[in-house]
Amino acid sequence: MGLRIAVIGVSYLGAVHAVGLATWGHQVIGLDIDQAKVDSLNKGRAPIAEPGLELALRRQLDSGRLRFTTDYADITDFADVHFIAVGTPAAADGSADLSQVQAVVDRLAPALRRSCLIVGKSTVPVGSAAELQRRVTQLAPVGAMAEVAWNPEFLREGQALADTLAPDRLVWGVASETASARLRQVYARPIADGVPVIETDLATAEIVKVAANAFLATKISFINALSQLCQATGADVVKVANALGRDPRIGRAFLDAGPGFGGGCLPKDIAALAKRADQLGAPRLAELVRSVQAINQSQRDWIGQLALVCLGGSAPGKKVAVLGASFKPGTDDTRDSPALAVATSLAESGAEVRVYDPAARVDRSGLTQTDTLEQALLDADLVCHLTDWPVFAQLDPARLTGPRNKILLDARLKLDRPTWEEAGWTVIQPGRPWPTGPGR
Ligand code: UDX
Repeated sequence: MGLRIAVIGVSYLGAVHAVGLATWGHQVIGLDIDQAKVDSLNKGRAPIAEPGLELALRRQLDSGRLRFTTDYADITDFADVHFIAVGTPAAADGSADLSQVQAVVDRLAPALRRSCLIVGKSTVPVGSAAELQRRVTQLAPVGAMAEVAWNPEFLREGQALADTLAPDRLVWGVASETASARLRQVYARPIADGVPVIETDLATAEIVKVAANAFLATKISFINALSQLCQATGADVVKVANALGRDPRIGRAFLDAGPGFGGGCLPKDIAALAKRADQLGAPRLAELVRSVQAINQSQRDWIGQLALVCLGGSAPGKKVAVLGASFKPGTDDTRDSPALAVATSLAESGAEVRVYDPAARVDRSGLTQTDTLEQALLDADLVCHLTDWPVFAQLDPARLTGPRNKILLDARLKLDRPTWEEAGWTVIQPGRPWPTGPGR
């Protein structure tokens, strides 16, 4: 028997979560203050491009288990569980801006008519859940008991629905047995499928989420810092990563060197972690995270400099074809995209930069987006591979006749070098031996 569940905030996280909950048989209302978004979701249009999401959304709308609203009155009487899935963007100083989460609590708590569980999904600095519990207790009317729990989400863009329906693990922080039992009902289906549950206190659950993102970012910055060392010595960072990855204590995942990490989560969440670690007297953690950030920035700068070297040291008058704009393949998201950062730096140096991406829209001044790959390649002096969309790995370099110079900067290290070289291309892969010998 399904529960009655509200999901407040139906952007990336919330829309996918609402669809997932309905798929598991719950009655779900998604709430958002954005009327246009709610209207389009009710018509079966997903707010984001995610594989399978729109189909699943339509199926759940048709089942009658899912609908969307802008009206809090629709959820306060209805829900046994309220999930909060609004954004926690970066404030000007890098800390997390919790105003959207607070606004939800301020609207929801005074309007509650029945006992319920309020479950945070948004990524927040440690200590936020306890603070929100205090606020809820103050604001909720006498008789309406509302307890706060925290249940972080680990979904990746591009596979958000699959990650939601079949997570590696379920993590939640609770303060009571009642809250624990309720969350077990919410997640009865994945638990029955064998997904492990890690139940903690509120603060631990909050930390697990940011720690996971910080650790992933650290792995990427570690291999990227090594790629600069490999470059200087003629060593091969891909072989280093493969050898490291064979050690089960390390693992191969997130050891792909390249232009660094981007997106809407990793950069923002680790910046907020550094701030919070400073505030709470953990300066060494803040320092570690800031090094990870600094390496990430230096990697973008380094790739930009290598591109300039490939252009013979000067960009004005040169044409550069950039392959990829999204922060990673499989998404149209360009937030904090390393590809666009490198492309922009080349444009600022004076190059004419044309960007082709299979999904993302480029709205940066100084960059020209092309509809086809051929348009981007036409007369190019240099081709930069900056986002590793599978379609680029499938290209036949022998058939790419548009570029003026056959020079490829494969910053993602994912293109098959021998195939490109056989077709007459000079291939530069940062962190791997250069064509004319080690460490040139
Ligand atoms: C991340 C976390 O993986 C997810 O658990 C969390 O819920 C949200 O943040 P996402 O932002 O979708 O997910 O991106 P992810 O797949 O983690 O990639 C982040 C960035 O790291 C991308 O720019 C990607 O290209 C880069 N990356 C990843 C590397 O440069 N090298 C790697 O080996 C792996």
